[in-house]
Amino acid sequence: MVTPTDESARSSVAPLPTAVAVIATGVIGRSWLRVFSRAGIPVRAWDPDPARLAQAVAWHADAVAAEETEPGRIADAVARITAAPSLAAALADVDYVQESGPESLEAKRAIYVELARLAPRRAILASSTSALDMTAIAAGLESAERCIVAHPVNPPHVVPVVEVLGGAETSEAVVARTMAWLRAVGQVPVRLNHYVPGFLLNRMQAALVREAVDLVARGVASADDVDAVIRDGLGLRWAFLGPYGTADTNADAGARDYFARYGSSYQALWADLRTDVQFDQALLDRIEAETEPMTRGRTAAERRAWRDRAVTALRALKADLSRPPGAP
Ligand SMILES: NC(=O)c1ccc[n+]([C@@H]2O[C@H](COP(=O)([O-])OP(=O)(O)OC[C@H]3O[C@@H](n4cnc5c(N)ncnc54)[C@H](O)[C@@H]3O)[C@@H](O)[C@H]2O)c1
Repeated sequence: MVTPTDESARSSVAPLPTAVAVIATGVIGRSWLRVFSRAGIPVRAWDPDPARLAQAVAWHADAVAAEETEPGRIADAVARITAAPSLAAALADVDYVQESGPESLEAKRAIYVELARLAPRRAILASSTSALDMTAIAAGLESAERCIVAHPVNPPHVVPVVEVLGGAETSEAVVARTMAWLRAVGQVPVRLNHYVPGFLLNRMQAALVREAVDLVARGVASADDVDAVIRDGLGLRWAFLGPYGTADTNADAGARDYFARYGSSYQALWADLRTDVQFDQALLDRIEAETEPMTRGRTAAERRAWRDRAVTALRALKADLSRPPGAP
């Protein structure tokens, strides 16, 4: 339900931030560079390691060249990224900060003290953290109301979902503005009402991966066949419908009907799922032996590039399918 507070927060949202800072430019930070440059926003990038910063700027130029063909568009996108000489320079005059530093509470807390000190008072301070609670990161900060988690999927310039959740002190206006801006730059923000370990994505991934590992550990099927059940089975629907959408289309009278009919079967299976699978040496060796042939001799870089092309093609198909009939 939309409350009047939500509405007033939404109506005051500028269409896009005028400038953003990407703080820490490792695997995730460099990909955020492309998200914002693609949306036409000037980006100030900073990393305490000058080599990582230079690598990220070069990586961004390659990513643009892989996507764009028109030389003017390539030059414009590349020019939107500025490698800042200091954290203070990166933060001057930005409306939004995307922090992607090391995943430890101690490191994040130290970074946030500096972000809160140096960024303009109006700037939202968003963290890419995969697991930490913003209540703990922002504890004791004077401006905790503007601190928020915006957890992407790797790499965010290819996979659009971002999990958004505030800490105990985050204001509703900051949540609304973060959601609106992420949507405006082409991401798909999803809101969590409160913290749970692993957020949504990693909890659901962990539930499935537990079973995938256990099935191989028990010799029920090969790793390739377990993957085939997802890539050529469940995953084909899951790219378009989640578990609830699937339930809705699997029973004539919708999701309620589906769970009323099959709920007890799920409960029996849930009782059979094991939680104690251990990654001991023997299991790791087995996983390596079974997954190595699946790479078909391609390098990790080739496999990742193929993954990104495949996901990009799937997104184009989804966009096409959601266009109204007859629309250009
Ligand atoms: N890799 C993933 O799959 C993934 C997915 C979603 C979210 N995340 C989250 O994104 C964040 C970054 O992960 P990553 O995989 O890009 O890590 P990474 O190791 O590739 O990059 C971390 C960067 O932080 C920089 N750094 C080190 N100390 C710093 C400091 N004090 N202040 C600012 N920067 C500092 C490093 O120089 C490095 O460039 C983490 O919070 C992680 O949980 C990662």
